[in-house]
Amino acid sequence: MKRTTRWALQHGVVRLAASRAAKHGDLHAQFMQDARYRDDPFPFYEQVRSRGAVVRGKLVNVTASYDVVSQVLRSDDWRAGPDEDAMPSVLGAVVRWARDPRALGPIDPPSLLVVEPPDHTRYRRLVSKVFTARAVEALRPSVEAVAAELLDRLAGHDEVDVVERYANLLPVAVIAQILGVPVEDHQRVLRLGHLAAPSLDVGLSYREFRIVDGAVRDFQDWLTGHIARLRREPGDDLLSQLVRLEDEGQRLSEVELKATAGLLLAAGFETTVNLLSSAVALLLENPDQLAAVRAEPALWAGAVDESLRLEGPVQMTGRFAVRDTTLVDLPLKKGALVVTYLGGANRDPAVFEDPHRFDVRRANARDHLTFSAGRHFCVGAALARLEGEVGLRALFDRYPHLALNGGGVRRTTRVLRGWQTLPVRLGEPAALASTA
Ligand code: HEM
Repeated sequence: MKRTTRWALQHGVVRLAASRAAKHGDLHAQFMQDARYRDDPFPFYEQVRSRGAVVRGKLVNVTASYDVVSQVLRSDDWRAGPDEDAMPSVLGAVVRWARDPRALGPIDPPSLLVVEPPDHTRYRRLVSKVFTARAVEALRPSVEAVAAELLDRLAGHDEVDVVERYANLLPVAVIAQILGVPVEDHQRVLRLGHLAAPSLDVGLSYREFRIVDGAVRDFQDWLTGHIARLRREPGDDLLSQLVRLEDEGQRLSEVELKATAGLLLAAGFETTVNLLSSAVALLLENPDQLAAVRAEPALWAGAVDESLRLEGPVQMTGRFAVRDTTLVDLPLKKGALVVTYLGGANRDPAVFEDPHRFDVRRANARDHLTFSAGRHFCVGAALARLEGEVGLRALFDRYPHLALNGGGVRRTTRVLRGWQTLPVRLGEPAALASTA
């Protein structure tokens, strides 16, 4: 009963409203329903931008303008999740009643992604020091070791799916180390993470929702067991430190601990896998750019940011108006929703010259909004960049003749963008190639 109510509130009502709104010209509703945009959303973002910096919709307002996206994400007039206290009292009560503490997903409070200060400041402080650029740089040797080990396991193979055998495995191994997750649990966590990934999309069918909800619940159960294990045998990982804080009754409740740990773990691999797979595809499709990074390895960092700009693993996010406000020249009521297309902002010709071109030397590639901006700027940005740089360089160094092998399939999620499978031919590994 609670599950059906949760589906009805989060997805069912939205589906109904969206199909009506789409008929009345709501751009976002049309976008979500049109299968053509699943593989290639970029013409849609162009269309939005050609209609104005912000476009009013029946259901949601949308923007693909770099300046407006950036302004909304940095402003105190907008919040990341709906304000439940401001909902009509009956609706607020139903939302709270239907919430299942054993099935809290990444966009359910108290996830960092949807809470605001003062709670947001408190949670972020607890985790952010582990992910500063300096702390992350210290992880470089261990990320290199993980990459090398995964590549060793490919020895003797030629045709492989680079997502399954590499892109998937590197980020989970790295974040698992940070959070003290044992190797034997990696596959389980990966499987549940993939099943739960559509939880970021809104408007799921009941069938899809049941799968996602079941995966979120199994993930939470696994996390409960993992936390209990760390409580008995703490390590020097981040999660053991957070468990200690909770045990000492300091600053973190059990639900908050699980929400924070679960988000870090899932965000730690569900996004970076897409960075790796999209960057591999872009580099192989643009041999002149690959040749440039091969000739000048200092360009790898630029290649990572240019991939993040052009094929962002997170294509959009949303914000709710905290008060009646005006965006550009559009008056909006308190509670109004604006969907910010990060993937559209990243191709705004006002900021990025020749925006659809993949250019590893692009001077301002790092200005992309793929990691968001403002208070909710991605905690793991430095880690993701490091994994991208190390992971790609190690792969292309080991396999100088790497080539696409046709038949790649994109993920079907809308918020997350990347490859579900990307078949490649590895060719001779470097040591053999140089003696051939
Ligand atoms: C290429 C990889 C990644 C991308 C594209 C990405 C993207 C994002 C975006 C867009 C947001 C903010 C969403 C919003 O403003 O509504 C975010 C938040 C977050 N990310 Fe990442 N992320 C990546 C990797 C990671 C990694 C490796 C971690 C693990 C440490 C991580 C942890 C988080 C957390 C905890 C938040 C919540 C921050 C907050 O709301 O204050 N992310 N990420």
